[in-house]
Amino acid sequence: MDRDRDIPVKFPPHPADTTGMIPTVGIPEALFGGGNGGQRVLVVDDEELLRAIVRERLEMAGYHVEEAASGEEALDKLGNGRYSVLLTDLSMSGMDGIRLLGEWSRRSPETAGIVMSANAELGTAVSALKMGACDYITKPFNFEVLLITIQNALRKKEIERQLLDYRINLERKVKEQTDLINSMYVRSIDALIKALEAKDFYTRGHSQRVTIYSVAIAREMGLPEEGIEMLRRAAVLHDLGKIGVREVVLNKPGRLTEEEFGEIVRHPETAMRILEPIPFFQPLLPAILHHHERFDGRGYPARLAGDRIPLPSRIMAVADTFDAMTSTRAYRKALPVYEANAEIRRCAGTQFDPEIVPLFLACQSRMVVPGDVCMPEGFDEEMLRQLRSHAV
Ligand SMILES: [Fe+2]
Repeated sequence: MDRDRDIPVKFPPHPADTTGMIPTVGIPEALFGGGNGGQRVLVVDDEELLRAIVRERLEMAGYHVEEAASGEEALDKLGNGRYSVLLTDLSMSGMDGIRLLGEWSRRSPETAGIVMSANAELGTAVSALKMGACDYITKPFNFEVLLITIQNALRKKEIERQLLDYRINLERKVKEQTDLINSMYVRSIDALIKALEAKDFYTRGHSQRVTIYSVAIAREMGLPEEGIEMLRRAAVLHDLGKIGVREVVLNKPGRLTEEEFGEIVRHPETAMRILEPIPFFQPLLPAILHHHERFDGRGYPARLAGDRIPLPSRIMAVADTFDAMTSTRAYRKALPVYEANAEIRRCAGTQFDPEIVPLFLACQSRMVVPGDVCMPEGFDEEMLRQLRSHAV
């Protein structure tokens, strides 16, 4: 704001005007009437004469004007509907102009506040600007300057409103577009998972089941919902990298050669390379990359141990191994649930986080497997019964 332009030159009080108002002489026609219809102005001053003069002149300029003799009365009028301008004196008995402005801008931030101050109150007028006033005008003031000050304040409020609308609209549009892009990514990745499961018949439904088991463990641990949601996404995608493993290797019935095993162990890094360029998936990458680490540090790809393994990876390691053991694979039949549980318990502290194992075993009886989830080959009603009856 150009203060030199907006601060009026201070005139001595006119001898005929006890309020110190300068008589209007030669006011440009454009400042009167027209264009101000419907703009409500509340004039707050404990000097009745000043209010009356300001009211008369603003009404001549086309404003709808109301008066209040104190800050308290002004606030009472707030219930009568929206005001475009609050033109208030600073020094009033009871609630002063600063307190009025503070309270008013809290309740009605769209109103343009203007303070009328005596010259000696300039420091206070600056405080009023800090309280959200658009401008101030020093008494005695010239009527043309008052009109220009009001118009500038209204213009400033209008620009603020437009900027706010623009920002809200922009934020909404950015969010819509981001959601759209993310849902397209999720659909594409879902298609990749389906393609992977089509390649590897024996892992059909594996991602869904690992997700169900992982989320059940997380709930048992009391993790926050946000953390559970991240875990859910990571679990769905944990084996995505197997898309880069040849089908003959994935479905090989016999023992893998060293080279073939090397192909398998690269799948967490392959998943990283697929997902890394997409910002939406970046928070999930550590969990996916390390889901084959072992608690004793003998896993892959980074040989991380103990708490250095991300918590979601430690959870998924238990869920993943349990599902692998209870599913029929090309190279072996599914284990009964109680045997798989015994194996999980045996490996607590070596392969698995010893604090997660009992939680997984404890939550099995409460695990809910949705009807549309493809259960492992051989995972029939009897096995579901075992899953519940062998809970620890
Ligand atoms: Fe895996």
